[in-house]
Amino acid sequence: MQSLHAEWDALKAHHREIESVHMREMFAQDSSRFDTFSASACGILLDYSKNRINSETLKLLTALAARADIAGEAQRMLNGERINATEQRAVLHTALRLPASKKLMVDGVNVVEDIHAVSDQAAAFVDKVRSGEWKGYSGKPIRHIVNIGIGGSDLGPLMVCEALKPWQQRDLSLHFVSNVDGTHISETLQLVDAETTLFIIASKTFTTQETLANAHSARQWFLDQGAGTDDIAKHFAAVSTNADAVAEFGIDTDNMFRFWDWVGGRYSLWSSIGLTIRLAVGNENFDAMLAGAHKMDQHFANTPYENNLPVIMALLGVWYGNFFDVRSHVIAPYDQYLHRFPAYLQQLDMESNGKSVQMDGSACEVSTGPVIWGEPGTNGQHAFFQLLHQGTELISADFIVAAKSQNPLGRHQQMLLANCIAQTEALMRGKTEAEARAELEAKGAEDIDILSRHKVFSGNRPTNTLIFDELNPNVLGALIALYEHKVFVQGKIWGLNSFDQWGVELGKELASTVLGELESGNPGEHDSSTLGLINYCLQRHS
Ligand code: F6P
Repeated sequence: MQSLHAEWDALKAHHREIESVHMREMFAQDSSRFDTFSASACGILLDYSKNRINSETLKLLTALAARADIAGEAQRMLNGERINATEQRAVLHTALRLPASKKLMVDGVNVVEDIHAVSDQAAAFVDKVRSGEWKGYSGKPIRHIVNIGIGGSDLGPLMVCEALKPWQQRDLSLHFVSNVDGTHISETLQLVDAETTLFIIASKTFTTQETLANAHSARQWFLDQGAGTDDIAKHFAAVSTNADAVAEFGIDTDNMFRFWDWVGGRYSLWSSIGLTIRLAVGNENFDAMLAGAHKMDQHFANTPYENNLPVIMALLGVWYGNFFDVRSHVIAPYDQYLHRFPAYLQQLDMESNGKSVQMDGSACEVSTGPVIWGEPGTNGQHAFFQLLHQGTELISADFIVAAKSQNPLGRHQQMLLANCIAQTEALMRGKTEAEARAELEAKGAEDIDILSRHKVFSGNRPTNTLIFDELNPNVLGALIALYEHKVFVQGKIWGLNSFDQWGVELGKELASTVLGELESGNPGEHDSSTLGLINYCLQRHS
């Protein structure tokens, strides 16, 4: 970050010039704005013309990317250098998408060979389960898959399974259990039966408290249904980097699908953590998703910054976060199948870039990752969009939509598209007081002086639109990889290590102390709030 000061200062000066310019004027002055500020790759069109930028902004932002050596940093990641310095690890989720014909040597090992050996093992298992050849303990085929995991071992697989529902084998029901709240596993177990259920215990470390608690409860329930311990092998599989812990849990290591410490949890859906996705949509569709992501990796690595989708999106995020003081960014997928995409991106972005220390240990001098939130459209329009249009905060947003629906039904898709496009137009244009007055006068309204002010929309609110032909496995793979690389670029510009997550540790440590105290009934030393809450719980439990 220190080395970016000249570029930063240039952007600051430019911001002062452009901050009061309205996008209405920009569009009025330049009818080719859409052509100038849109780019496409891997079947995805990014329209970023509804942003508070001009050609000079783009020039200055790409200079920032050049100074941060984004292209070089990307190569270092793709080559398997140990860029996750605080954990001394390479960052190679991109290798999981490499075709078998490629070679990538890390510490003297061709990781591509390893990756494909494990994915062949997973693919063979998946074919057996999906075809019914894999039988449960009473000889019946598997009908329910229960994925037990949390964070990256849940959100990625869950989001993709929802997104690719049209490709799902519908006689296999999918269930996801993540929360340590006993309600989650209990309610799920009511929906399945032991004879036809396969539990996938997904945990990179196999030490995560929530996942192990849920896995133990599932195991106990399975035995309570009349199954024997020998039957566990037919109903429990594990996805992990920790073979010892898997064996200790009692899962046959033949049913264990491994991956590597250079796959971060929130980047792991491409690895064996995607086993539930494979089971849901089949190996071919999973491979199509990998191919889409690989295409995006190549686009990211080989395209000049000006036309590079992840770089453009990252730079726009930096532009708003650091120069307009935008603190939150909305993800609005106009696609019901993408309803978990905002939740997935929350982990991807906020766990990666929600940090305040730079790689060298010094404090960040500028704001880093924004709050990511969102809901599918059109639902969001009837909930929080009021604040996007008329609130005092400036909030940026990504609108994501497929031109074609997987469920063509009457006018639904045209209505969905119309709403998506109109929202970005409204956020950009706004409505002036004069326009509001004119409308009210035409209606013969009273109290026009006051009412017109309530009906003003400032506009000038930035949005990106990502549009593609249809949401299929290939496009989804590219879309996810696009956001992964966006997060990477921003992390590099802010000088962060986007691949560790020390911020989740303190809460885990304190929870284990509080758990001991709740179980023993002996509270330790705490502030009065923490102690008061512990005592409240102890009184209700005794
Ligand atoms: O606590 C955060 C985290 O480490 C995430 O980064 C990770 O995705 C999640 O927990 C689950 O971890 P695991 O897959 O090791 O159970």
